[in-house]
Amino acid sequence: MNNFLDIHKTTPQDLRAIIDDARTVKAARNGRPKGAPDDSQPLKDHMVALIFEKPSTRTRVSFDVGVRQMGGQTMVLSGADMQLGHGETIADTARVLSRYVDLIMIRTFEEQTLLDMAEYASVPVINGLTNRSHPCQIMADILTFEENNGPIAGKRVVWSGDGNNVFASFAHAAKQFDFELIFTGPEPLDPEPALDGLYTTVRDPNEAVAGADLVVTDTWVSMHDPQSARERRHNQLRGYQVNEALMAKAKPDSLFMHCLPAHREDEATSAVMDGPHSVIFDEAENRLHAQKAIMRYCLGK
Ligand code: CP
Ligand code: NVA
Repeated sequence: MNNFLDIHKTTPQDLRAIIDDARTVKAARNGRPKGAPDDSQPLKDHMVALIFEKPSTRTRVSFDVGVRQMGGQTMVLSGADMQLGHGETIADTARVLSRYVDLIMIRTFEEQTLLDMAEYASVPVINGLTNRSHPCQIMADILTFEENNGPIAGKRVVWSGDGNNVFASFAHAAKQFDFELIFTGPEPLDPEPALDGLYTTVRDPNEAVAGADLVVTDTWVSMHDPQSARERRHNQLRGYQVNEALMAKAKPDSLFMHCLPAHREDEATSAVMDGPHSVIFDEAENRLHAQKAIMRYCLGK
């Protein structure tokens, strides 16, 4: 049994095996209807709890569909509706859920909630996003990059915008998958100090993007950021918008990624999001395939 808590907490060998497995799992779907079961049913008779303390479209639906395709069953739980949201400890919740379900995926605010869940559960726990990281997203992104442009090792990846939770998982991945990561954004929104050494900062976005193999951005206001910070953040980040002029500085065959949901014409223009470099909907699809491989890894199936 394995947890999947963060990219840097999983070995490069295991991460590579998960990506390879995701490619196999994806190829085996072979254009069949989304609701059709996989030939192999590794989650047959398995029950999976999907817990959300924050909104979600992609994570919720892709995990639910993935479990069902692999023959398992899901229950989607809102943190607010559980005793978890009303004072029961995470430890007690984890111990109780472990008596009912075979696997827990949780999207939560505080990283400590995820860590406590993993410590006290006797079944595997998967990180479906915290304020600090989003590892499942970056596994889908690595899969997407490699499907389109080959091995990511040695490539130049440029993040333009807020040094947030999704950036953090890219930073962890830069070390584990051996690619170069450049951060370009305003100093007040620099990534957290724990990530120092995993990336290089280039303040000028045009300079940063020069020669990039991949340009990535994300929302300027994350779910855990106070709405009161919205205007200030927009003012700080405006110069880091990914538009056609910025993408023109990257390599001709560069890719553009955004984990979605996006605020079009803020962090990226529609011309880029719907343009020739964009693989945003491949990323979204690949959440399904990558997470199926992650669940198989967690359950040793
Ligand atoms: N990218 C992502 O995690 O999207 P959701 O918030 O819709 O799950
Ligand atoms: N950084 C964003 C990612 C959403 C998938 C957030 O945390 O809201």
